[in-house]
Amino acid sequence: MLATRETRRTARPLRQTIRPTGVERRFRDSDIIVTKTDPKGRITYANDIFLAVSGFREEEVIGQPHSLVRHPDMPRCVFQLLWETIQKGEELFALVVNLCKNGDHYWVLAHVTPTADGSGKVLGYHSNRRTAPRAAVDAITSLYAELRGIEHGHEDRRRGLEASRARLDSFLREKGVSFNEYVLTLARN
Ligand SMILES: Cc1cc2nc3c(=O)[nH]c(=O)nc-3n(C[C@H](O)[C@H](O)[C@H](O)COP(=O)(O)O)c2cc1C
Repeated sequence: MLATRETRRTARPLRQTIRPTGVERRFRDSDIIVTKTDPKGRITYANDIFLAVSGFREEEVIGQPHSLVRHPDMPRCVFQLLWETIQKGEELFALVVNLCKNGDHYWVLAHVTPTADGSGKVLGYHSNRRTAPRAAVDAITSLYAELRGIEHGHEDRRRGLEASRARLDSFLREKGVSFNEYVLTLARN
């Protein structure tokens, strides 16, 4: 029997630094970019749209963490919040900029969810990504720049992360919304 995409694995780690080109790649509003991971966040499935937009071959992404496509403009505190949320069994919506294999980038509105068995044990995670409205990208870009600035402003990585997370929390408190509410409000406007 042929291995399916869900079961095929690659043992070869793809560790390379992609240099951003600054060129944005767009995809259709009807496209959904999908990946699934195991509980540790290693990619177990990537749909054809993910491969087409990112420019990676399937065997280059299966078994890899999503940090493969991590863009340096993304604040670390957003991924901290993502993992805290999904590990609690909850969903997270986030505006994320990702790198393509050639260094181009693309913005998405991601919906990340845990997949659990009948007893509540997390079997893995799932991300569905759609196009992000331009106004939402513009709004989140300035917040992300501020958070990244805080992270880079500390020599100690842990302190930088604590400070940017505290700023993100106070930003949301001032607005009286959760992260998901803030992101969905931006995405709907
Ligand atoms: C289902 C799922 C989807 C994810 N999608 C992305 C993604 O598209 N881009 C990204 O940079 N990180 C994504 N992450 C977060 C990564 O696991 C990781 O936290 C992030 O890339 C930061 O990596 P680093 O801390 O090693 O720099 C995803 C995580 C999960 C569980």
